[in-house]
Amino acid sequence: TARKQAEQQAMNLARFPAENPNPVLRVAETGTILYANPAGAVLLNAWSSGVGRPVPEDLRKCLADALVAGQREMLELHLDGRTFAITVAPIAEARYVNLYALDITDRKALEDQLRQSQKMEAVGQLAGGIAHDFNNQLTVMRGYCDLILREKEGRENVADWRHHAREIRGAVDRAATLTGQLLAFSRRQMLQPKVINLNEQLKAFSATLERIISENIRLVLNCQDDLWSTSVDPAHFDQAVMNLVLNARDAMPDGGQLTLETRNVELGEDYARRHPGMSPGQHVMIAVSDTGAGMSEETRRRAFEPFYTTKPQGQGSGLGLAMVYGFVKQSRGAVYLYSEPGKGTTFKIYLPRSEISLSPVAPSPKSSQQTLRGDETILLAEDDVGIRQLAVRILEQFGYTVLVTTSPQEALALANDSQRHIDLLITDVIMPGMSGPDLARNIGLARPDLEVLYVSGYTQNAILHHGIVDKDVNLLTKPFGPRELAEAVRRTLDRHKPSPPSGQSGGA
Ligand SMILES: Nc1ncnc2c1ncn2[C@@H]1O[C@H](COP(=O)(O)OP(=O)(O)OP(=O)(O)O)[C@@H](O)[C@H]1O
Ligand SMILES: [Mg+2]
Repeated sequence: TARKQAEQQAMNLARFPAENPNPVLRVAETGTILYANPAGAVLLNAWSSGVGRPVPEDLRKCLADALVAGQREMLELHLDGRTFAITVAPIAEARYVNLYALDITDRKALEDQLRQSQKMEAVGQLAGGIAHDFNNQLTVMRGYCDLILREKEGRENVADWRHHAREIRGAVDRAATLTGQLLAFSRRQMLQPKVINLNEQLKAFSATLERIISENIRLVLNCQDDLWSTSVDPAHFDQAVMNLVLNARDAMPDGGQLTLETRNVELGEDYARRHPGMSPGQHVMIAVSDTGAGMSEETRRRAFEPFYTTKPQGQGSGLGLAMVYGFVKQSRGAVYLYSEPGKGTTFKIYLPRSEISLSPVAPSPKSSQQTLRGDETILLAEDDVGIRQLAVRILEQFGYTVLVTTSPQEALALANDSQRHIDLLITDVIMPGMSGPDLARNIGLARPDLEVLYVSGYTQNAILHHGIVDKDVNLLTKPFGPRELAEAVRRTLDRHKPSPPSGQSGGA
């Protein structure tokens, strides 16, 4: 009876995989199916195979690899419109693998739906945030413009006008900051990286930072000696640090300590694998730490989302960290945050070490209104009527002769037909029909000494690689004012003028 009992037990056990509602298969090293439970029929049918017959070739390879590696693996198979997650468990000593499958079709569909709805929610929040902030600035501009327009003829109230203009200017700057942060977040910002030492950058900037934090906050600078150099846009780097420092200040209303720290760090393969978005290798790390309020779990999770803010209405736009995130990503780095409620917060930015040695600091000559003038001839191609008219006014005020065109085709025709000498082409980067760079190339064929100044609002275009501007490209970013335009024009025109007495052979 002991034997009978054992037989009974064995039978019971044999029923166990057969009763499994999920497919279970055993496959020999050769690819021959040794066993399939009834639920496994789904897979066998899809493969038009059966016990004693082979699995499909690509799967056989996969299983053989798993056997060699001696490691369990996860696969996803799409069969007859259904998706299976399959655990491949190699049993090396028996030279076969067990497959445990799970139909995840419905779960996947649900996940997709959830992801879609989360995406829609995020987009909605983003659009709402932009609309709200922008409308505020537009209301200011519209209001003051109407006030000016309503003034009676002859009643020349210059003081009022100046005041209104200043208010409009302020609203424009705030709106420009907003678009700047959004571009930063979407990684479409124009970055002009330089190879710099971040210690010096931070030290130079710390005076400004001292001014914006309150007196009861102590600023400590803890810089590593011999810090590696890194390639980064200095102005945007300052902006990112500023955003972190402002947040730290707001988190310490009763005072505390704010620490800026730099370190050389070598990230291993292992670290990079555990931190998505990080590449292994040598990095420069900048940490900004405070002893403030810290963040809740939810805030920690959402902090980098654009327009996510816990600050009262009107005090935070929720774009500070979104800008930091976009900037760091665009600079091929990574940013992490560590925070505990009541203890404080640390942000760590990692930027890749630069192979190149430090860029020489170019002295920026202070240009006066006078030296910005010129009498050259400029061909302007700009399809936006508002910007076109503004540019013409500014350029003529500074003494230039302007040939105005409203499309790249028109500009090309004018350049081809005219015998006039043209010193400079100013063109938008993105225009209907022909890109700015293509226009410049076409005109440049017949006029090799033509200089080009590009105007653009964002980076999705041909003259940039991942938003990084080539060194020999002259670029003016929107929005710009009279001075910025005049300076960019002069800089572009003078670029090849003071040719050094030696070297230049004239390019025959
Ligand atoms: N150092 C910090 N300590 C505690 N909480 C922080 C810190 N930095 C950011 N946060 C939290 O993350 C949120 C988002 O920060 P973010 O800088 O993106 O926007 P904001 O500061 O609210 O507004 P903005 O920077 O646009 O003025 C903040 O509202 C705050 O709740
Ligand atoms: Mg902020």
